[in-house]
Amino acid sequence: MQPASAAGGDARRFAARVARVAERPGGGWAVHFDAVERRQRGEEVILLSIGDHEFATPASIVEAAVAALRAGQHHYTPAAGIGELRRAIAAFYADKAAIPVTPENIVVMPGAQGGLYALFQCLLQTGDEVLVPEPMYVTYPETVAASGARLVPVPLTAQRGFALEVEALAAGISGRTRAVLINTPHNPTGTVIPRETMAELVALCRRHGLWLISDEVYAGMVYGGGHVSALAFTDRHERIAVVESLSKSCAMTGWRVGWTVTPPDLAYYLEHLAGVITYGLPPFVQQAAVEAVTRIERFEDEIAGLYERRAALVCDALAADPDLVLHRPRAGMFVMLGVARFGLDGERFARRLLEDAGVSLLPGESFGPRTRDWVRLGLSASEAELAEACRRILRFTAALRGSGRR
Ligand SMILES: Cc1ncc(COP(=O)(O)O)c(C=O)c1O
Repeated sequence: MQPASAAGGDARRFAARVARVAERPGGGWAVHFDAVERRQRGEEVILLSIGDHEFATPASIVEAAVAALRAGQHHYTPAAGIGELRRAIAAFYADKAAIPVTPENIVVMPGAQGGLYALFQCLLQTGDEVLVPEPMYVTYPETVAASGARLVPVPLTAQRGFALEVEALAAGISGRTRAVLINTPHNPTGTVIPRETMAELVALCRRHGLWLISDEVYAGMVYGGGHVSALAFTDRHERIAVVESLSKSCAMTGWRVGWTVTPPDLAYYLEHLAGVITYGLPPFVQQAAVEAVTRIERFEDEIAGLYERRAALVCDALAADPDLVLHRPRAGMFVMLGVARFGLDGERFARRLLEDAGVSLLPGESFGPRTRDWVRLGLSASEAELAEACRRILRFTAALRGSGRR
């Protein structure tokens, strides 16, 4: 419910911050919420508007949490996370990518989202600017705004496959720029920043004394592997901060467990910030996370393989309509579809598709105005459901053409 005061009532009732975090009522999720309601009313809606696996967390992870609960792990934990989990995360970077991370670089956070919020609070303030490639993940604008900093979007263009261009970022740097926020693999486009580009980006940030904040929540979901972390280019004291979580790689969205990897001096402040917000994550959630991180490659390979097959299925099916512009992802949980040739923007396309065909996609504008003519299709459904969704989409686009909407 939107409070009366939010719509221009008593401005002194709340801090100015609350207006900044609630700037976009619904935050681009209106079609999704409508789809959820329709489903609850019993309509046959295929829900492809959200990035949350339709399957459960792997059983051994659930068992680890249950065992911890039964063993009496019901108490406070250290704000930075339990030692066992921080050691497991550090070992994961060392083993998987030969990156020398130690537990003192790690602070456990309530999801990548909690990590982003905490990083922005520690690094950004009013008057600062942060450069962010657009399209961008839905929560970035409000999360940056909560810090008081100004988000400066840097366009990623469809013509160039939504690839990050370091020159475009460099052109956005001003005397106020304090940080660059990147996301690789990228939501919504599924692009991956290649090693050379990451090296250039790190060099650019180094030259200008900027923090590089890298959201790598889809790191484990590159089809065929090959994620390049910003951490591969740093020693432990540089201005590089990475945020990751188990939400996507281990199907643990509801557990709210992620972490930051930063230089130890920043980790010190992140730990203190965690101490005044979460006061530590639940111990049984952290024990489940230990199990997940310790066997992460097994879970990641399985889940990434599944999504690679789903992406291929959807892209091959929808290629039957040449008016749909397909952006094939290299990673992650989504396929972007350009719909401009139907004479509708993404919002109107998604709304009519929901009403006429019972398929829920997310309008591209949720990720910024540059993808206004796109929709994002989430792959979190069985292959049978995805195939049915594609049939419905193709029938819908054929009907749009028939009705002369082009
Ligand atoms: C790019 C990106 N960053 C962060 C998040 C938040 O992830 P978490 O569930 O770990 O908070 C998401 C979730 O969809 C995301 O897509």
